[in-house]
Amino acid sequence: MCGIVGYVGANADERALNVVMEGLARLEYRGYDSAGVALVGGDRVVTAKKAGKLANLRDELGARPLSGSSTGIGHTRWATHGGPTDENAHPHRGGTDDKFALIHNGIIENFHALRGELAAEGVVFESETDTEVVAHLLARAFDGDLTRTMQRVVERLEGAFTLLAVHSDQPGVVVGARRNSPLVVGLGEGENFLGSDVAAFIGYTREAMELEQDQIVTITPEGATVINFDGSPAEGKRYHVDWDAAAAEKGGYDTFMEKEINEQPQAVGDTLLGRTDAEGRLTLDELRISEERLQDVSRIVFVACGTAAYAGMVAKYAIEHWTRIPVEVALAHEFRYCDPIIDERTLVVSISQSGETMDTLMAVKHARELGALTISICNTHGSTIPRESDAVLYTHAGPEIAVASTKAFLAQITASYVLGLYLTQLRGQTYADDAQEVLAELHGIPAKIEAVLGGMDRVREIARFMVDTRSVLFLGRNVGYPIAMEGALKLKELAYIHAEGFAAGELKHGPIALIEPGQPVFIVVPSPDTPHGLHGKVVSNIQEIRARGARTLVIAEEGDDSVQPFADEVIYVPSTSTMLAPLLTVVPLQVFALELSTGKGLDVDQPRNLAKSVTVE
Ligand code: M6R
Repeated sequence: MCGIVGYVGANADERALNVVMEGLARLEYRGYDSAGVALVGGDRVVTAKKAGKLANLRDELGARPLSGSSTGIGHTRWATHGGPTDENAHPHRGGTDDKFALIHNGIIENFHALRGELAAEGVVFESETDTEVVAHLLARAFDGDLTRTMQRVVERLEGAFTLLAVHSDQPGVVVGARRNSPLVVGLGEGENFLGSDVAAFIGYTREAMELEQDQIVTITPEGATVINFDGSPAEGKRYHVDWDAAAAEKGGYDTFMEKEINEQPQAVGDTLLGRTDAEGRLTLDELRISEERLQDVSRIVFVACGTAAYAGMVAKYAIEHWTRIPVEVALAHEFRYCDPIIDERTLVVSISQSGETMDTLMAVKHARELGALTISICNTHGSTIPRESDAVLYTHAGPEIAVASTKAFLAQITASYVLGLYLTQLRGQTYADDAQEVLAELHGIPAKIEAVLGGMDRVREIARFMVDTRSVLFLGRNVGYPIAMEGALKLKELAYIHAEGFAAGELKHGPIALIEPGQPVFIVVPSPDTPHGLHGKVVSNIQEIRARGARTLVIAEEGDDSVQPFADEVIYVPSTSTMLAPLLTVVPLQVFALELSTGKGLDVDQPRNLAKSVTVE
């Protein structure tokens, strides 16, 4: 949700612009409604900005090159206040002179009041954005020291924001401020960087520094200084980024999504890595929560959004089964508003790839206020949600750039399983003895995902035949239900096709009315070994829709011939225990959505209207 880059170096040449543009290219997945840059040159700040994707800004810079500079900022936008126009694109200048520029990620909640106040003083606005209000406040308050000015202005702001500002009276300086919105510092030699995430500067340095909430950072070529909003000095936490620029590139694939789907075996394997001892028992010392505290947990609530929430739904089935602890899944944006029943024996587990999703962050904060123990399952080091939680269990999927989540989803499910199995191990309940067996089986999953990926030709063919399809339904039961929902979500966001995921048993209670001859329906069939005759029930559901003319696309376990008579297509995945099957059955659905989107000529990595991390509520 908006990408932000800042740079200061020692020389006034092309580097500042190149670094900023490269950073924007890496951050474009965060928003692509417009892009803009500002460079400090001589005694003024020059800007260029364009609605639409970064390519439009590149064309603009080609036609109207900016001169060399040592200091620059850049922004890629996901529109909130004001449409995706050139006028609303960042940077904003805050007045008529050309000495100042500001970029912003987040929402200034009191912007109406501030705008009214400024308008009464005669300020004329050029855009509809909340950002321009802050730009005017800063430009008007500037007293020769941008850091001090920022400190005074942020006091007046409500909401969530990352702000980066430059002023030509302080040419070698970029000042950033953050509240509830991401900002990390990149530490180079004779040059320093700011970014919404480390991808912004990963091509230049892997040394980074985290900022806390409500802090202001000032970067110069020599270093980075941090203060709190109240002016007191602060220390940022330094860390080394454990992936490099190559990980954030396409590596020979046509799209990031294709690359990320193919990285899934590694994402699962890496998420398991280093979490077991020589006896094959889980060790999660990294949580730094005492065993007694975890043993005392009486209820678990997952909070997450979108794909991450579906990972939570999968986890619910598995963790309840293994631990016999009641588990709920709440959409993070609903959690706070349904007056949740939480106490100190409740474990609230947030799941977030980005670690910045505002809805999830607010749910975590609320849970902590209510006394819950909070654990974050997260893919992004240095992000906000882990910092606001009692503990973190990182997924190790590596950077996920495509807006549609794939490898992070598998890593989230894996981490949730690890947590569930650890609780099982600690609490010595019904399935404690089985926990090690499940864990051993989990270690075999990456090879099985490889096998699924190796057999996707028919799925691609099916997708190519279906480019004109207007609606696809997805059915599943038990852990197959969230996979059906995820399959539908992937198709909606990538191919803009109406898609719905249902619990297969619910069909006869209404949605079966949607079935008409030729309606394509994917059905995720559980293993024939699943208890309580679930497999047979799903096979009956397939027959019910086939009898009404549906085109049935069945995902089943290798060797399950019983589905053949009722399936127009069967996609087989290797056999595994029921609870682990989602790690395999979702893969054909991801490939299907990717191929259909490609077949329709759509932008797979940057679907319309979306942004990778949703940092507004
Ligand atoms: O970064 P997060 O995991 O918190 O993001 C949550 C959702 O916004 C995200 O999973 C979204 O649904 C994806 N576009 C799904 O592909």
